[in-house]
Amino acid sequence: MASRIINRLRKLRKFLRVGGWQILCRPRVIANYFLNQREQRAKAVVMKSLPSKVEMEISGKCNLRCRHCLRSYSHYPRPQEFITLANFEAILKQLPYTVTLTLTGAGEPLLHPDFLKIVRRARELLPHLNIVVYTNFTLIGKTVTAHELVRSGVSQIHVSLDAASADVYRQVRGADAWDHIIEGIKELLAARSQLGARRPLVGTDFTMMRDNFHQAPMYVELAYKLGVDYIAYPSLLMTSWGYSDGAEGMTKSALIKVMEETRTVAQKLGAPMPIEAYVADPDGWFSHYEELRSNYFENCMFFRNQIQIDAAGNFRLCCRHPGSSHTYGNVLEKPFSELWNGPVIIAARQRQVAGEIPLPPCGEVCVVPDPPLAP
Ligand SMILES: C[S@@+](CC[C@H](N)C(=O)[O-])C[C@H]1O[C@@H](n2cnc3c(N)ncnc32)[C@H](O)[C@@H]1O
Ligand code: SF4
Repeated sequence: MASRIINRLRKLRKFLRVGGWQILCRPRVIANYFLNQREQRAKAVVMKSLPSKVEMEISGKCNLRCRHCLRSYSHYPRPQEFITLANFEAILKQLPYTVTLTLTGAGEPLLHPDFLKIVRRARELLPHLNIVVYTNFTLIGKTVTAHELVRSGVSQIHVSLDAASADVYRQVRGADAWDHIIEGIKELLAARSQLGARRPLVGTDFTMMRDNFHQAPMYVELAYKLGVDYIAYPSLLMTSWGYSDGAEGMTKSALIKVMEETRTVAQKLGAPMPIEAYVADPDGWFSHYEELRSNYFENCMFFRNQIQIDAAGNFRLCCRHPGSSHTYGNVLEKPFSELWNGPVIIAARQRQVAGEIPLPPCGEVCVVPDPPLAP
């Protein structure tokens, strides 16, 4: 109980730090947020609220070919292009109640030639936004400098490490970029303090797979020493997302052992990290750290929040859900408000209410944090 309250207070502090207080001046955004929560709980079929959590894949292109990533495989189904600034604006204007806007899908956002313009425009259009970027960070100092990133108004930067050493990084991500990324994180933190800025919050990510899972404890230690604001949970490979045999050899007992070690390291250091694990093992999906369920959203947001729009304007639902490859229309061709309650999605919601679409395993342990209290 006490740890839950502490956790909530911590999240609230971060929320205020990334500029969340600006929401207080926007009653419609708040009203939509709470209506959306109610509609999710009630499993509404027709949604009166709009999503508060939106992922816009501004870049469908990438400069890496990580072995675990869907987009490195030939059957990759999505458009590999950059969104234009005009289209970005046209889409965001249709989603005025967004609270957390993630500028990443499957692709590298810092590769977008107008990345800074996009962030600034988002901030101008919706000043209250929690703007989040997931990045491989290999292009820091090349397409964008650390100072530019701080000045842009982005709220959170998640740097995907997926390793704790240069050799494992190369094995997983196929690039000799380790030293550059680590230096880049240091530069970003230094630029933030030089400029006296409160944001962006800087965090690291680690997707566990056969090739790197033994490094999870080392990853926590490394990230802690770097002084990042949060160390995201080591999450587990979605085998359906590419590297299909990448979980081989990660037995449940080996994984639990590594997670225990990781947790011990984090506790010893006092590292700011929630640990969560989920994976498709031979018995189905499992969550090791059951107690963390209550810290996250207790229900799957699929169908009613947490939407994705790709670089060509196609509207999809949460990318972690097994049914995410379906497109519900294009928001550049038809207004989002129509698609959001279009016949296909309504039929899907009806089937879900009737129990014909069970909650997916990831839904039980959803690690997509509920906005605006992102990790
Ligand atoms: C798809 S990438 C896009 C952003 C950016 N290019 C990057 O690498 O951070 C976002 C995150 O998804 C993770 N990811 C890629 N393939 C995955 C998979 N099969 N299972 C789980 N996470 C995966 C990456 O490691 C990365 O942390
Ligand atoms: S994980 Fe990120 S960097 Fe790696 S291929 Fe996928 S989109 Fe690119």
